[in-house]
Amino acid sequence: MKSILLALSLAVTPSAAASLHHDLPTPNYIPMRRHESKTPSTLLHKRSVTRPANLTNVHDVYYIIDITVGNQTIPVSIDTGSSDTWLVQEPYECVSYFFPYPGAKPDCGLGTGFVGPLSGGNITTHWFGRAYMDGTFVTGFFGYEDVTIGGLTAKHQQVALVNYTFWQGDGRTSGLLGLAYPYMTGLDGPEEGQPAYDPVFTTMWKDKLIDPVFSIALSRTNSEAEEQEKESYLALGGLPPVTVDEKTWAKSEIRGIDAIPEWGFETKEKGLYIIEPEGWVIDGKKNETETKTRFPVLIDVGATLSILPKSIVNPLYAAFDPPAIYISGTGLFFAPCNATVPKFGVKIGGRTFSFAPEDLLRQTVRDRSGEYCRVGVTDVSSGPYVLGVSWLTSVVAVFDVFNSEMRFASRIEY
Ligand SMILES: *[C@@H]1O[C@H](CO)[C@@H](O)[C@H](O)[C@H]1NC(C)=O
Ligand SMILES: *[C@@H]1O[C@H](CO)[C@@H](O)[C@H](O)[C@H]1NC(C)=O
Ligand SMILES: *[C@@H]1O[C@H](CO)[C@@H](O)[C@H](O)[C@H]1NC(C)=O
Ligand SMILES: *[C@@H]1O[C@H](CO)[C@@H](O)[C@H](O)[C@H]1NC(C)=O
Ligand SMILES: *[C@@H]1O[C@H](CO)[C@@H](O)[C@H](O)[C@H]1NC(C)=O
Ligand SMILES: *[C@@H]1O[C@H](CO)[C@@H](O)[C@H](O)[C@H]1NC(C)=O
Repeated sequence: MKSILLALSLAVTPSAAASLHHDLPTPNYIPMRRHESKTPSTLLHKRSVTRPANLTNVHDVYYIIDITVGNQTIPVSIDTGSSDTWLVQEPYECVSYFFPYPGAKPDCGLGTGFVGPLSGGNITTHWFGRAYMDGTFVTGFFGYEDVTIGGLTAKHQQVALVNYTFWQGDGRTSGLLGLAYPYMTGLDGPEEGQPAYDPVFTTMWKDKLIDPVFSIALSRTNSEAEEQEKESYLALGGLPPVTVDEKTWAKSEIRGIDAIPEWGFETKEKGLYIIEPEGWVIDGKKNETETKTRFPVLIDVGATLSILPKSIVNPLYAAFDPPAIYISGTGLFFAPCNATVPKFGVKIGGRTFSFAPEDLLRQTVRDRSGEYCRVGVTDVSSGPYVLGVSWLTSVVAVFDVFNSEMRFASRIEY
């Protein structure tokens, strides 16, 4: 942390260096458990709660944190692509459109949820509901309860309890912690014009429990591997305790939701963590391309893969040696598991942040033959585009809502 100014003076223009915020480590960091579900790679989970446009996504790697709601400790997955915090309420009704065998009881794959009433009371003026594009949905009601994360308590926090859902989990989590802006809480509800409210992180900084910043470090390997550098953290108010390459710090402005043309919003209001990288670099054995095409991307911990336009992704597939191929039925590209992986990086704040080869070609997700491994980047015909877990594992990402900017530094290889 201390060497940041020295390092910057070597690498970044003085004006940029002068304005780069100097982050401090926070004692309020919370370890997260990484979970990779064993669902077949063909099972696509399409999340789109806050995304009107088409988004095919894979959701088989996620990060779990224990939060305390009232006095109940409940595991939830974290998401920077939505803003609500919801928990399933016991007993809840799980519905399904399809059944593994006739008469089977639907299983939503949610863990034990919240029991009993919310101590701050219910909100009775409007319902909670979010629909996802693959047909999954959560519905229930809002109320107030204290929410504690890593020793910090957001008092009288608005949360949602879900009592009617179709969900496809694998039993590790009982809800979601949405870390995006308040604006998103007023969208997409069952009733038009739902009042927006402050999500957990917003409450915490407005109550001055923390500086208006959080950061994440995501491990590439499951948390059963004990080494510290492999751990994942959510750090509230500062930096997590992982080593980064200090000279790589770079920043990018967080854009308003009007930056995603496909969404058709006119407001410049901040909603999600949208940045506009300066370019993309592919360096394969046979081809090296650098494109300066600029388009907005979401920084989304809730997305396993990164999702980019065909103009970027097709040359990337071609740069694998042998090239990646489309495997029908999966909707995704795979390359031979022993293929040579090209270098692929995104330019942010004058620096290139590369994907790790392990994330570009994931050895643990294979096709039926077992010889082809999944490429960590997928294409989509229109935005929003996403930098997901397959990129975030290589950096520490700082979400600074006070300065409206994201900062990144490369993690020391682990
Ligand atoms: C959305 O996806 C469907 C199915 O893949 C496709 O037919 C349609 O063209 C897509 N729409 C957009 C706007 O990309
Ligand atoms: C948890 O909170 C509920 C309601 O506030 C209370 O009735 C219960 O006794 C508490 N349980 C424990 C173990 O503190
Ligand atoms: C809130 O709603 C739930 C579900 O209908 C109910 O069980 C609970 O008693 C209500 N709590 C209050 C304080 O009304
Ligand atoms: C869910 O809670 C709401 C609000 O209390 C209630 O009206 C509704 O009947 C509940 N639904 C189920 C399936 O329990
Ligand atoms: C390298 O990639 C660029 C961009 O896709 C393409 O236009 C060019 O033909 C490729 N060159 C070779 C030698 O493959
Ligand atoms: C990669 O694996 C295939 C079989 O799966 C084998 O035929 C090929 O020789 C291997 N290539 C390299 C470069 O090791």
